[in-house]
Formats: sequence, C-alpha cells, structure tokens
Amino acid sequence: MRSSHRACGKTILLGEHWVVYGTTALAVPIESIETVVDVLPGQTGFHLDVSAVHRATAERVYSTALEGLQIADMAADWAVHVQSSIPVGEGMGSSAAFGCALIQALAKATHQRLSFESLWERVLELETVVHGAPSGLDHTVITHGAPIAFYGPQKYDVLHWPTDCSLLLASSGQPGSTRQAVENVAQWRKDNLDHFEQLQRTMSDVIEVGVDSFQRGELQALGQAMNESHTALQTLGVSLPILDRLVQCALDAGAWGAKLTGAGLGGAVLALVPKPCITQ
Ligand code: MEV
Repeated sequence: MRSSHRACGKTILLGEHWVVYGTTALAVPIESIETVVDVLPGQTGFHLDVSAVHRATAERVYSTALEGLQIADMAADWAVHVQSSIPVGEGMGSSAAFGCALIQALAKATHQRLSFESLWERVLELETVVHGAPSGLDHTVITHGAPIAFYGPQKYDVLHWPTDCSLLLASSGQPGSTRQAVENVAQWRKDNLDHFEQLQRTMSDVIEVGVDSFQRGELQALGQAMNESHTALQTLGVSLPILDRLVQCALDAGAWGAKLTGAGLGGAVLALVPKPCITQ
C-alpha cells in the first residue's frame, strides 16, 4: 500500500550562517511550495519523478534513510516517487523538505511511530549527506510548519506569524550550493577570526532585536534587522552582485527590509514588504 508524506518549503528571515556558530536564527515555513514523497512497498525500482535534489544525492539520502530507520533489508528496492515544487539551490529548503517527507513516508510504510527527537535526528543525518555540516534549522522549521526562533539543535521556540507580515521572494536564477557556501564561510572565519567574532557579536544583537520585532509585529524594525543581516552576509562573502541588485530593487520599491536568504552564492532574495506592494 502507498504511504505518502508532504513537507513544505522555508525561508530564513535572520541568522543564516551565524546559526552554524551558535547564534539564533529566525525562519518561517512557505506552505505554498512542497515536496511529496510516495513510497510503494509492493513495487520495486527506486524512482524519482521530479528532481528534489540531484539524483546521485537522492540515492545516498535514500540509503542513509533506510539505515537510520533500520529497514535496509526490507526497503532497498522499493519504488519511491518524489514530486516537488520547491526550487533546488534557492535557499527554500528543498533538501530538508525531501528528507522530512521521505523519513515520514518510510516510517508510515514500515509502521514505525517516530518521536519528534527521532524524526529530527533521522532528517539531520540526511541533511548532513547533502550539506556537510547543517545546523538543523531548515528541517526544524519545515517539520513544525510554523515560524521558529532557533537557538541550536532541538532548542527553539515556535512563534506566531505577526499580522500583515508580507514576504516576497525573488529568485536570482542562479542556484547556490549550501555545502560550498558553508565551507566558504568556515574558511573566511578561519582567515579572519577576530573580525568574524566581532561581527557575530554585532549580529547576535541585531538578530535578537529582529526576533523581538517579529514577535511584537514591529515590521519596520524587523526590516532594518534584515538589511543589516544582508550587509553582514556580504562581508562573509556569500552574496553575489545579482543578489545585491535584487536587494536594492526591493528597497527602492519600498520594502522595509531585504536580504539574501539561505546559504547564498546564488538562490533568492527575501523582501519584507508593506501589504499594498504584494501583487502575487
Ligand atoms: C541554509 O538554509 C542555512 C545555513 O545557515 C546552513 C545551516 O543552517 O545549516 C547557511
């Protein structure tokens, strides 16, 4: 019998990269994009309908999922269909959504009840296959389907959406690699440790104010924190001229704040906009 599970996308308002080094991050789900995984135990042949991550990566993710759930003997050749509307390499959580949906569909197919902790650990293993050293932020927000302030592995608060919070995502058309971006930042940190630590302290304060503003619904102050975040991400070297141009376009058009979102080196820009600006 077919077992299916869906997971939504996500975007990060504040704290990408810094979160890898223990600073708070603020992320929200994007329910309008999703990945659906169907597991068909009666049928054979690992099969991807639509690329949620690259095929070779998907196969490694699949075998890691089977090991994690201890079902490698049983499920190695099951048919798995993946359909996704989450763009790959755009910072919208395509791999975490794939991981969340896959683990839950496989658990359903094998009648396993997973605690949240165990689901979290299993998906983190898959994210590690794809990204190398993930913080766990992406799959935490996707699993909850609610805004979260993330403080570290399994330490987070689930938040309410502020009234009238309108977000706009603009793709650069250039996919980025989270693994590459995280490695670049690690190298930058190594080469500029004092500067990194000083900037991290500043960003920690900025993010704290931003999270507080999100909770209070003070959107202009949140926008200011997003702008400062983009400048700091530029310093870390993960922005690109196209991302900077998109940020400037959004601000020129009246956005309260705009920044690259996710790992950078491509991907998308997120803008916080006054409600009347939204056209779709
Ligand atoms: C990627 O969506 C966010 C990063 O902070 C990496 C991570 O948190 O694992 C760049």
